[in-house]
Amino acid sequence: MPILAEILGTGRAVPERILTNQDLERMVETSDEWITERTGIKERRIGDENTTASSLATEAAKKAMEMAGVKAGDLDLILVATVTPDMPFPSASCVVQKNLQAWKAAAMDLAAGCTGFIYGLSVADGFIKSGQARTILLVGVEILTKITDWTDRATCVLFGDGAGAVILQASNNGNGLLGTYLGADGRYGELLFMPGGGSLQPASQQSLDQRLHFLKMEGNAVFKIAVQTMGDSCLKILDRVQMKPEQIDLLIPHQANLRIIQATAKRLKLPMSKVYVNIDRYGNTSSASIPMALDEVRRSEMYRPGMNVLLVAFGAGLTWGSAIVKI
Ligand code: ACO
Repeated sequence: MPILAEILGTGRAVPERILTNQDLERMVETSDEWITERTGIKERRIGDENTTASSLATEAAKKAMEMAGVKAGDLDLILVATVTPDMPFPSASCVVQKNLQAWKAAAMDLAAGCTGFIYGLSVADGFIKSGQARTILLVGVEILTKITDWTDRATCVLFGDGAGAVILQASNNGNGLLGTYLGADGRYGELLFMPGGGSLQPASQQSLDQRLHFLKMEGNAVFKIAVQTMGDSCLKILDRVQMKPEQIDLLIPHQANLRIIQATAKRLKLPMSKVYVNIDRYGNTSSASIPMALDEVRRSEMYRPGMNVLLVAFGAGLTWGSAIVKI
């Protein structure tokens, strides 16, 4: 059997506080009916002033390590996929390394928007297959509610906070990552971005007054590209690993919009019973949505060892990607 990156353990962490659609009705001009019909979201989790990317990532990581039976000292590499690190630098992954006391591990962040977890899987796969690492912690974490403009009804109803973690280890028992596919198109960057706070528009009184430190999105344009690229990415990875949609036991798509998820399932001719949906409870948690869903599946009765799971995402960049993994 060839060496594969096997997912040995999973974990997730979300803040306790729930923000419902009814709560949002009191904050902006919107309705539970609009949000439910247009997005599928009913509620989302929202962190308090003490919630940071590294705090949720560490909590999720500890659960994944416990399931995997892996100790901090076993980790060779820590990858954190996020666009909302605690601060621009040091990286969130270095803070997680410190929290876990994983002194042997190298650490770096990956910024690929909502596709960050799939990009992370691909990087981890490369490190494991090249022999540079044996055991890797990969976390997708996002505290999007701290860059959400709570006066903009077109975006503030969509996002939530959360973290999902996996432990990947080199193994030759047939389980693990069968392949990944990644894509990007920077020409669409300004459809979904946070303009302020970088070297282009450093923080200033003017950037604050212009509300540049919040997420901005052309939702409808992103929606159309998402429907196209999510379907394309699924077909690309199926072709790459020589599988047919009917060999997939479960599709775990990035949870951005129920209508995008349904369109992707339809393109693959997969029944919704084979599609994992939890957007109603968490909203869009960006790079955390797929590992959080993976953890829910692993800890539920639907989990069967050796299941073929298709993961697919798209997000800021714009970026997109897919992976097939035997879990
Ligand atoms: N409540 C009520 N009405 C609203 C709301 C709201 N919260 N938001 C927008 N509307 C109104 C608009 O003003 C518009 O009104 P108008 O027709 O009078 O102008 C109408 O609803 C329709 O607006 P659209 O933006 O065209 O609505 P759409 O059907 O496209 O749904 C949505 C909007 C949910 C944002 C959708 O476009 C979407 O999901 N886009 C993709 C988002 C996404 O997945 N982003 C990528 C990942 S995020 C990341 O990477 C961090």
